[in-house]
Amino acid sequence: MAQLQQPVPLQTCVAAPAIQHQLVAGLLAAHAYTSPKYLYDVLGSRLFAAICELPEYYPTRTEAAILQKHASQIAAAVGRDAILIDLGAGNCAKAARLFSTLQPRQYVPIDISEQFLQESVNALRQQFPQIEMTCLGMDFSSELELPPSIARQRRQFFYPGSSIGNFSPLEALKFLCRIRKAIPGGDHHGGLLIGVDLIKDTAILNAAYDDSLGVTAAFNLNLLHHLNRLLDADFRPSDWCHRGFYNAEQHRIEMHLEARDDVTVHWQNGGIRRFARGERIHTESSYKYTQQGFIELLQQAGFGQVQTWSDPRKWFMVCHAHPA
Ligand code: AVI
Repeated sequence: MAQLQQPVPLQTCVAAPAIQHQLVAGLLAAHAYTSPKYLYDVLGSRLFAAICELPEYYPTRTEAAILQKHASQIAAAVGRDAILIDLGAGNCAKAARLFSTLQPRQYVPIDISEQFLQESVNALRQQFPQIEMTCLGMDFSSELELPPSIARQRRQFFYPGSSIGNFSPLEALKFLCRIRKAIPGGDHHGGLLIGVDLIKDTAILNAAYDDSLGVTAAFNLNLLHHLNRLLDADFRPSDWCHRGFYNAEQHRIEMHLEARDDVTVHWQNGGIRRFARGERIHTESSYKYTQQGFIELLQQAGFGQVQTWSDPRKWFMVCHAHPA
């Protein structure tokens, strides 16, 4: 019989002033927005794990199939004894599947939600006692300064799932430059293994971000519970609906929360915003690339020797690159 999951702990913490300031600026902007990182509280991380199981959400399983099919070539590119640094590790499942082929010396999962990370790593430590595991709870989207306990040589960054798509192309370039800087120049054993979602038929993209069970809708709406805690706000999820669609001009999926009617939201220190019916909060973008476009981005960031692997339908691509 399947084991019941632990209940999701209720979180109560109000955010630090700098985070609140950033959130309020987004909510008061003419076109309201929030950073996609706020989608990932404990429940949000679990809902995202559920999205990855959905029939419509092809990226996770397509990437897994590519990693499995080309495992030996990928292992040859990465090399043994690596320090595998997993950016946005979540439940650590993707990296764990690579452990037997890659045989890393150390595994360094990094995620914003440290509580979720610790739970995942505890189970892995027992399964792979030979791999040293060092959890880091940090927001790597803004800085990538790793502590001295993480040696500089043989750093292999792992950034799967096309999470790079959640940055704008300019932010993605800056982020790739930061990864490049975290690998010492001339370290031929250092590198980046990254998954990238490719441009494809709009109907397939739309279904992946607006699934028939409404799991993506719940993931998006859960952001409002998170905002309520961070800002002591009074968003009611039932006042909002999920919108997820491909914007072909911008090469990106957009997720929004749309007001079902006129809604007034309050938050601490007298904060207030009135949203008219149909007005939206832009909660996430997910950029899609061409193969060539992404290789050029890697090269601009200072990477070279790029190797790519894809699926037969060319829906997704895995790249490995060394410092140029
Ligand atoms: C984490 N990230 C790559 C996902 C994506 O596809 O952009 C987040 C997601 N949002 C809705 N569904 C999945």
